[in-house]
Amino acid sequence: MHAEAEILKRTGGREVSGVVLDAETIAQRVHALGAEITDHYADGDLLVLGLLKGSFIFLSDLVRSIMRPHQVDFLVAASYGNATQSSGNVRLLYDPETELAGRHILLVEDIVDTGNTLNRLVRLLGARGPRSLEICALLHKRIAPNLELEPRFVGFDAPPVFLVGYGLDHAEDFRHLPFIASLRE
Ligand code: IMP
Ligand code: MG
Repeated sequence: MHAEAEILKRTGGREVSGVVLDAETIAQRVHALGAEITDHYADGDLLVLGLLKGSFIFLSDLVRSIMRPHQVDFLVAASYGNATQSSGNVRLLYDPETELAGRHILLVEDIVDTGNTLNRLVRLLGARGPRSLEICALLHKRIAPNLELEPRFVGFDAPPVFLVGYGLDHAEDFRHLPFIASLRE
């Protein structure tokens, strides 16, 4: 596709090696996820918590497909370590000001890899007394050895390669790609 070829050229030296999920495929799945989420929450206050930065595009599409009242906030977590490997430590750089107690919390993540980030956040958020706590992940690599809480809503199983686009980055690049691609090693 012409537009995709143009975007692929502007990636500062690094190359993406192939489109793994195109924009149309993503849009259809995200819309279906929104419908699943709408059906799941019959009553009560729902707070959708997007984990920045990776979830920002997914979250903005997802919330427009959740056809019931809800509120949106964000979490900013930073994990120590290098760009392609996750360490066990997670610290919060931004913590939502809103009360979590008594509300349904839906944590939205771009991709589950080792599960370290989610495990720390699930413990932290669970301790604040939400009415329920669930995870929605766009992508799941299915390699996490022990997840405290398995995501209830998953967009796609992901291949065991490094993915970029639709919010996912490599060293902060490629987030704007409207599709998901693998990065050439
Ligand atoms: P985990 O703690 O190892 O599960 O890592 C989760 C975070 O690492 C995600 O929220 C992403 O920001 C990042 N990450 C893991 N795998 C990828 C990938 O394939 N592409 C881009 N970012 C990734
Ligand atoms: Mg990242």
